Amino acid sequence: MVFGGTSGIGLAAVKRLAALGAEVVAISRDPNKATDLPDGVSTMACDVLDREAMETVLTSCGPIDILVSSATGGSRSIGPFIDMDMDGFQGSFDKLWGYANVVRYGTHHLADDGTIVLVSGSPASRTKAGQTSLGAVGAAVEQMARAVAPEIAPKRLNVVSPGIIDTPINPLEGEARDNAYRSATAGNLIPRAGTADEVAHAIVFAIENEFMTGNVIDVDGGWLLA
Ligand SMILES: NC(=O)c1ccc[n+]([C@@H]2O[C@H](COP(=O)([O-])OP(=O)(O)OC[C@H]3O[C@@H](n4cnc5c(N)ncnc54)[C@H](OP(=O)(O)O)[C@@H]3O)[C@@H](O)[C@H]2O)c1
Repeated sequence: MVFGGTSGIGLAAVKRLAALGAEVVAISRDPNKATDLPDGVSTMACDVLDREAMETVLTSCGPIDILVSSATGGSRSIGPFIDMDMDGFQGSFDKLWGYANVVRYGTHHLADDGTIVLVSGSPASRTKAGQTSLGAVGAAVEQMARAVAPEIAPKRLNVVSPGIIDTPINPLEGEARDNAYRSATAGNLIPRAGTADEVAHAIVFAIENEFMTGNVIDVDGGWLLA
């Protein structure tokens, strides 16, 4: 089950899992807007903030082997903290609350050798100016995973932390989009935006590697060292 599996990183994970032969369910608030899901992938509508709806979705799918969440949860506030719209700052944490619901409720439906992967973000480890909300939320996601992993073992819980990735989360188009990625990644060791598939590759690695739990995989083009 991939929450947020209808766009960007989640959709790329859905595609990789389906190609490996998994029976995949892609979930989001409005899954009908996903146009390029592979054949055989089913969809379900669920808001990760709606615990009742989540229980219904989880129960209907029976024992689950793999749970992924990349659902952003809602809108996020970016910009200087001292001028921050505090409602927006609080809203940025919807990502954490959604992931918390996936882990809290999903673990009960997970097979004994099942595995969960969440998606944080590079600002969790290296927060640049204007990224306080991204850094705080991402760090909370990673610490939640480290805290919960011992409680749910032998079920596994890992996090993938992407740098700047070219996905529909970015509303810009055309030249403005290209310029934004160019300037945001210019100082990175690999000066380009990553692809959703490059992150999905790491998600599948965390799923397949049975010696990993409570770990974070960085996929960031060298953001942390730039
Ligand atoms: N792209 C980047 O540069 C980047 C970098 C670092 C970290 N990340 C993180 O990676 C994750 C995925 O980002 P992305 O770039 O793939 O974003 P995206 O393309 O905008 O996809 C987000 C997905 O989450 C779903 N979603 C959002 N809120 C939801 C909710 N309340 N309930 C259920 N589903 C919900 C969306 O579908 P619906 O709208 O239909 O619900 C969509 O399928 C996010 O957590 C993001 O913070 C992204």
